[in-house]
Amino acid sequence: MPLHRAIYVSDAVGGAATSLLILAEILGASERNNRRDGLSSVLMRHDGRFLQLIEGRRADVDRLMDRLRVDPRHENLRLLSDVAIPGRRFGDWPMILAELTSEGARLLDGDALDRLSPARAEALLALGVEAATVPA
Ligand SMILES: Cc1cc2nc3c(=O)[nH]c(=O)nc-3n(C[C@H](O)[C@H](O)[C@H](O)COP(=O)(O)O)c2cc1C
Repeated sequence: MPLHRAIYVSDAVGGAATSLLILAEILGASERNNRRDGLSSVLMRHDGRFLQLIEGRRADVDRLMDRLRVDPRHENLRLLSDVAIPGRRFGDWPMILAELTSEGARLLDGDALDRLSPARAEALLALGVEAATVPA
């Protein structure tokens, strides 16, 4: 089954930029749905924007993108990357929240999330995943 990876940036709307409750609601629904749909995902919220990477079967990624485009908690979705992939890089989690680590901040170097190339976006999310999953 061919696999697909989409990466997008969006602008958070209202409380979605800072509210922990809204973030928790997003994470809860995502965990449940992505597990059901065989999707893996990494989400970062930073400075009023969301950066999300989604991996899975093309039809499942597309269905999620259709739901995301009409979600009022964010707007102005722009795709950074939308490609076929030989295998998953972030395959272990239906949804993981990636924090901006100090290493990530260095990589971002003051840029907004929507200024990232696909490779830099992926590297930034990988750093956040590493920080979130390395045992203490
Ligand atoms: C930034 C952001 C990221 C989201 N990521 C996902 C996701 O990975 N998976 C998902 O199912 N829903 C995600 N959602 C929520 C969807 O837009 C939608 O509300 C949800 O899938 C509807 O699911 P439900 O019918 O089970 O409530 C996200 C929403 C936002 C604002």
